[in-house]
Amino acid sequence: MLAATHMLVRALTSLRRNGVVGSLRWQLYRLSEAYNEHHLGVDTRRSAEFGPNAYRHLAEHTPYEPLPYGLIKRGLGSVCEKAHDHVFLDFGSGMGRVVLTAARHPFKRVIGVELMKPLCEIARENVARANHKLRSSVEIVNEDATRYEVPDDVTVIHLFNPFTGDIMTAVQRRIRESLERAPRHVRIIYAHPTDQRNLFEGVEWVKEKQRISTGVFFAMKLLVYEHTPSQGAASGTHRRVTPEAVFSAKLA
Ligand SMILES: C[S@@+](CC[C@H](N)C(=O)[O-])C[C@H]1O[C@@H](n2cnc3c(N)ncnc32)[C@H](O)[C@@H]1O
Repeated sequence: MLAATHMLVRALTSLRRNGVVGSLRWQLYRLSEAYNEHHLGVDTRRSAEFGPNAYRHLAEHTPYEPLPYGLIKRGLGSVCEKAHDHVFLDFGSGMGRVVLTAARHPFKRVIGVELMKPLCEIARENVARANHKLRSSVEIVNEDATRYEVPDDVTVIHLFNPFTGDIMTAVQRRIRESLERAPRHVRIIYAHPTDQRNLFEGVEWVKEKQRISTGVFFAMKLLVYEHTPSQGAASGTHRRVTPEAVFSAKLA
């Protein structure tokens, strides 16, 4: 009875806030989230334990928040057909939602780099649970992204707003160093809330290739950048980015 009342109140609040079409879309989003979690047999939902409080001493690090499955799939759309040609890396991999979704395609391998040890442990458990559904191997690395040397075979890099400011600048430098060691095509899939600056804008060694529609997630931007060896990683700039990020992806 209590649960039914709660659902009714939620539905009415959503109707008032989003209108009929908007509410239907949000319901679809919720269904899609539940379906994907159930299909993989994992739980990667946001939790208070890894909310802003857990990161209060860590300026420029973004708390754990999973990207909606629908957006992960849209981002992957540009690469998953030729997954077998690519090595995929997610910076700030959290509980593993992005790496799990990527690993449903036959990438050469999939890597997640995550700062928080407990999140890495959850991600590894999730990978073990979903293993029979995965088509590529997944490695979860517990490391600060600024200290992580990007492997020279990585060709697809995913970032869902993991950090800002000097941390992002340092990680962009890490990517560029790898491109200097091993010149190659690299694609960067970057999702960020619209109330935060695009931290790849002005980076000279990448070119914006695609803006992907985010549909109901109007408070999010999803962009695909590309680096080609002719862009010369060595000449790239790294503007210092002011940390004006507010962690409010406004997903609900
Ligand atoms: C917005 S969440 C994205 C989670 C995941 N990519 C997803 O979409 O499901 C950002 C993640 O970045 C991680 N993070 C923040 N700073 C980091 C750093 N310096 N190195 C590695 N991971 C970091 C956080 O712990 C958090 O899990």
